[in-house]
Amino acid sequence: MNIEVLTIFPDMFDSFLAYGIVSRAIKSGRIRVSPVNIRDYAAGKHRQTDDRPYGGGAGMVMMPEPLAGSINAARKKDGRAKVILLTPQGRPFDQDTAGKLAKESGLVFVCGRYEGVDERIRSDYIDDEISIGDYVLTGGEIAAMVVIDAVIRLIPGVLGSDESATADSFSNGLLEHAHYTRPQIFRAGAVPDVLLSGNHAKIDEWRLESALVRTFLKRPDLLEKKALSSREKAILKKWCDNIERLVSGQDSGHQGGDALSRADTLSGEEP
Ligand code: ADE
Repeated sequence: MNIEVLTIFPDMFDSFLAYGIVSRAIKSGRIRVSPVNIRDYAAGKHRQTDDRPYGGGAGMVMMPEPLAGSINAARKKDGRAKVILLTPQGRPFDQDTAGKLAKESGLVFVCGRYEGVDERIRSDYIDDEISIGDYVLTGGEIAAMVVIDAVIRLIPGVLGSDESATADSFSNGLLEHAHYTRPQIFRAGAVPDVLLSGNHAKIDEWRLESALVRTFLKRPDLLEKKALSSREKAILKKWCDNIERLVSGQDSGHQGGDALSRADTLSGEEP
């Protein structure tokens, strides 16, 4: 995939492109990322890229000509590339959008600064507008890095086989299950026995249960949107039953030992 980033601060991308999976994807030739200085397309001695807004008011607006010049140059290189403006007014970015963008042959990111870009650029040159959240950054560069990072790891071959994206949070509408590594005992916490058992069916079941319970506790809105499979419904129902048993045990003066020990096996997730 060919990615062009149009920005007045191309150097901001140096360390982003120099490390980890992004750097590896570039070295392997799976992606090419080219930060382009919008100022190179600005006219005049001062190569001005911003100007005062018509109608007055605070702040500056990015001038249309340097943006149009840099977008046209990027389009000349790849006529099919999708041109995306990073702006807090864009559509909220999510994993689904990342997956769709990962299938594009080329992407051009336009990083707005100041009060934003001239409206004629927005209407005539931009295919899509993306926001990374309901807050205002000083420019689109960090937003572009966020989007590029999330997109490129979904391009086939970018993640190694041991870094697969298939179990990622959000990829199946759930948060990802809990993870453990060595040591087996850390402070008061032990790795759940099932993860040491070598029984992959049981480990899969535990991981699905962990994903469901932590999604229920941390992001119940995701569960409301998801069509649950019968296996997933059965796991959540078992949790409801355990909690019900625990509560009715308390009501009748007993400690709910059974339900509690069940919760212990998913340490970190207990309600
Ligand atoms: N530019 C400034 N704030 C932004 C945001 N929240 N998302 C994308 N681009 C931005």
